[in-house]
Order: sequence, then C-alpha cells, then structure tokens
Amino acid sequence: MIENSAIKFLDLKAINQGFEPELTETLLEISQSGQFVNGEISEKFEKNFAHYIGTEHCISLGNGTNALELILKAYLVMGILEKKDEILVPANTFFATFLAISNQGLVPVPVEPDPTTFNICASSLEQKITEKSRALLLVHLFGRNALSEEIKQLLEKNNLKLIEDNAQAVGSIYNGNRTGALGHSAAHSFYPTKNLGALGDAGAVTTNDLELAATIRALGNYGGKEKYVFEYLGTHSKMDEIQAGVLNIKLPYLDKSNRFRNEIAGTYLHEIDSIHLTLPKAPEQNQPLSHTWHLFTLLVPKRENLIRHLSKMGIETAIHYPIPPHLQPVYRQTDFGELPITERIHQETLSIPLNPILKKTEIKYIIEAINNWDGK
Ligand SMILES: Cc1ncc(COP(=O)(O)O)c(C=O)c1O
Repeated sequence: MIENSAIKFLDLKAINQGFEPELTETLLEISQSGQFVNGEISEKFEKNFAHYIGTEHCISLGNGTNALELILKAYLVMGILEKKDEILVPANTFFATFLAISNQGLVPVPVEPDPTTFNICASSLEQKITEKSRALLLVHLFGRNALSEEIKQLLEKNNLKLIEDNAQAVGSIYNGNRTGALGHSAAHSFYPTKNLGALGDAGAVTTNDLELAATIRALGNYGGKEKYVFEYLGTHSKMDEIQAGVLNIKLPYLDKSNRFRNEIAGTYLHEIDSIHLTLPKAPEQNQPLSHTWHLFTLLVPKRENLIRHLSKMGIETAIHYPIPPHLQPVYRQTDFGELPITERIHQETLSIPLNPILKKTEIKYIIEAINNWDGK
C-alpha cells in the first residue's frame, strides 16, 4: 500500500528536477546573454535534432501545430498540393492533426484505426484512397510507430506523400530508422508533457528535402528568406533560445528514458490481468523500440468505474481523448462518414500513469489496484 501519497498522472515539476542544476544554469545564462531568438542555441538544437532523427534538415518552430501547418503550406506554395486536395489522416488522433489540414484549405479524410494498436488501419486506408488523395498524414499515436510495409506499398502505388505527425513518438525506431525520418517530412512537438518536453511551447520539422526546408524556414519567418523581403504570406513561428537550450540539455537522455518507459510498459503488459479491460498490443518482437510509450492506454467499457476505483486508491488517470476530431463542434457541418471504431475507442480509452520517474513500488501498486478492481 502506498501511504498518503497520490500517484500523479504526470509530475512535470519532479521530472524537470532531474535535469538540475543544468536547467537553471542555462536559463540564467540565456537571460543574461541578451540573445533570445534567432541565436546559436536554436541553431545548435537544429543540428542536434536533425542528427538524432537522421535527416539532413531540421527547422525549429514555435509548436507542433505550426510544424504540421507549415509543412502543408509549403507544399501548397511549392505547387505540390492544391487547395481542396484530400489528405488521408487517422480518425483517432489529437485534434491538432485535423486542424492543420483544415486550416490550409485541404480536406481531411479520416481513416479508422486498428483498435489493438490505436494507429491507422492499412486496409481501411486503402478503401479511402481516391483520385484526389495526395498525402497521408501519419500519426504515430501514443508513441507507437504507425508505418508498415503494407502502408508503404499503398503510398508508392498511389503516389502519395508521407507526412509524419511525430508529436507523440520522438525516439521511436522502425526498421532501424527513427520516426520523423520515415517519410518526406515530419512534424514534432516539444509541448511540456511530451517525452522530450520544453518549458513552454516548441516544435520542429525534419526532412531531407532542401527546397521544403528552405520554404518552411521562410514561411515561419513571416514569408521571407531575406530580412525585410517577403515572398509569401507566411506566419511568425520560431523556437526561442530558452526552449532550444532546455531541449539541448534533455535530448541526450531521451533514449534512456524511452527505454525505461518500455520496461514499465512491458511490466504492465505482463502483469495486468483484469478481465474488465483490454490492454494495448505489445510492440513487434523484432521492432523493440518501435514504441516510446508516450501514453499507456487501456480500453475499458466501464471506464467511469475504473477511474473512480483508481482515484480512491490515489492513482490519477487521464482520457486521450474524450471527443474524436470528427465529432468536434467545429466540424458539425462536415460529413466524415461512419467511424464506429474511433467512436468506441474514445468512449472506452483510459490512460494510466507511465513516466520516467515512476518508482517500482508505484508500478506494483498500480498493477495491483487494477487487478483487484471488480468492474464495479
Ligand atoms: C498527435 C499530435 N499532433 C499535433 C500536436 C500539436 O502539437 P503542439 O501542442 O506542440 O502544437 C499534438 C500535441 O499535443 C499531438 O499530440
């Protein structure tokens, strides 16, 4: 029994404490340097992160939503996409993935997931491809790589661009390559709760496409490649020196922390044996780091009962996400077709604590609390 101490879903204060005193020293140095944007520290982060992901280019930006939007906007100004083109997207994702597509005048075409992985289902994807489809915006949801040979073949056969939404999966590896380097371009988020989290908002694009990289850099700089000369109606989005400094400190520890997440997930998968819920599928044995377990998510038909039971035992849980993008009020006039698998997932999904500062005793306590639940 854990006495008097609640298990938080995610304790960012305690997680960041692990990076002291380096974090505070860096913050102080930057605050005294006078250089807050467009400096050497964000340049260094771009080099570090491109090297880590395994791409030639990294453009650091203000957040992950901007990263998604600027990839799509760049393809539009480059003439690779046209307004009203269809972008295939998993129906089961965070709203920002849809938002980025709609905001660029493109059409999100939602595809049902495989409920055992929560990621896009290849056979459902094939059914949604039309002559207007131009790209797949592939989300590696909860940290799990979503690419497969089947999906690769569909993309090649139908000449579709592969854009990755790697917001939740930084560090995942598929066939020896990192997610974020598997397609033509990728968006990353360093929102504070992410496996690689800043102390505020931050994001990036990675790509091997030099023209795309230069266009995104210009679009994020109001639309100009040169100072005070604007070729496009861009926007203003950049990662500041403080966030870049924080991420430079944290990046070298990311793989170790993702391996620890995998150990916790392995224990959960092995030891949670309640008949009242369904566990997520284990990663393929030959792809051990294809999942970075940003979130460990169960399917529980009697979700409210389990939330109440765990809460009484001092264990915080979270729902990712309560309403799927296609049912959001903003899309009330849009007919996305039937998406029953996505809707069931959103009714039953429940995330339990999984983070790099969970103690062995806490993991054991969580497992026992779930296994002792009688479903009521
Ligand atoms: C799948 C996914 N895509 C995009 C985003 C957007 O990233 P940001 O919050 O940095 O704008 C998030 C953030 O939570 C996300 O989870």
